[in-house]
Amino acid sequence: MAPTPPRHIFDLIGNTPLVELTHLAPRPGVRIFAKLEGANPGGSVKDRIVLAMIEEAEREGTLKPGATIVEASTGNTAIALALVGGQKGYGVHVVMPKGVVASVPDILRLYGAEITWCESEGGMRRAVETAHEIAGSTGAYVLGQFTKQANVEAHYETTGVEIADALERVDVFVAGLGTGGTIMGVGRRLRERFPNVRVVGVEAVLGDHLQGLRSLAEGYLPPLLDLKQLDGRYLVDSASAIRTVRRVIEAEGILAGVSSGATLHTAFRVAEGMDRGNIVVMFSDGGWKYLPSHPWDAAERGDEALNEVYWW
Ligand SMILES: Cc1ncc(COP(=O)(O)O)c(C=O)c1O
Repeated sequence: MAPTPPRHIFDLIGNTPLVELTHLAPRPGVRIFAKLEGANPGGSVKDRIVLAMIEEAEREGTLKPGATIVEASTGNTAIALALVGGQKGYGVHVVMPKGVVASVPDILRLYGAEITWCESEGGMRRAVETAHEIAGSTGAYVLGQFTKQANVEAHYETTGVEIADALERVDVFVAGLGTGGTIMGVGRRLRERFPNVRVVGVEAVLGDHLQGLRSLAEGYLPPLLDLKQLDGRYLVDSASAIRTVRRVIEAEGILAGVSSGATLHTAFRVAEGMDRGNIVVMFSDGGWKYLPSHPWDAAERGDEALNEVYWW
């Protein structure tokens, strides 16, 4: 019988490829595998959580047909919401700090989302507050990726299972810390299957707006993130992340996004202390939407301006 093609874009969310980075293997015996979340239809890992969070709110009855959903995001969650919310017939209103990569608002407008801008100095915290103000005055529904457990569960049920099923063993898992959803959900699933796995989080250096990643030193601990569940935390600056992602593009042909450079840079550091084992790194999005900002060239020049853009 001929296979049936997927009948909806939502059927293409998840089940992303896991690929071994053979050219960048640190030494024989230490293998690095990248989970390519850029293969999701909205171009990032956030398609998974947005679909799961909306469907949970629908089941609970807190999200009513025809409602408008509001959310603060500097990019990937906004795009995922514009795609998924739009397909489900909701209005979508995104609050973003100024300084996001130019293609993000362009994509959002194509999907028909409304945008409210915040001053970049207030960062994501200010954007989250504004989203709540908008909800208060308009009755919009706040998606709430920083606070709702459905974010973590989406990763426990999908991303984590996919990784655990793909490999005989996982010794280290490396993911960026944004909302904490990825590391908490995947980390819990992997620990169940591989009790000795080390779960390592990647943070942005304070002041660096590294694509999707938070600096915990900013003083905001995402409520979903339980630091006790992490076996290690590494700080990565934008320039190192961007240099590393450039190596991935050249050596492996993978046009990954900037936070992928941060996770891979961390994987290399972790690998220094290993003789053998499997390391899985999250590549949370693809690199296409960053192209108008030319991060790769700026990294080569050692450009200070790198830290003035939100690289996500
Ligand atoms: C590109 C990118 N990398 C990493 C992350 C971090 O993921 P999480 O929010 O699950 O901690 C995000 C989102 O916040 C992101 O957009």
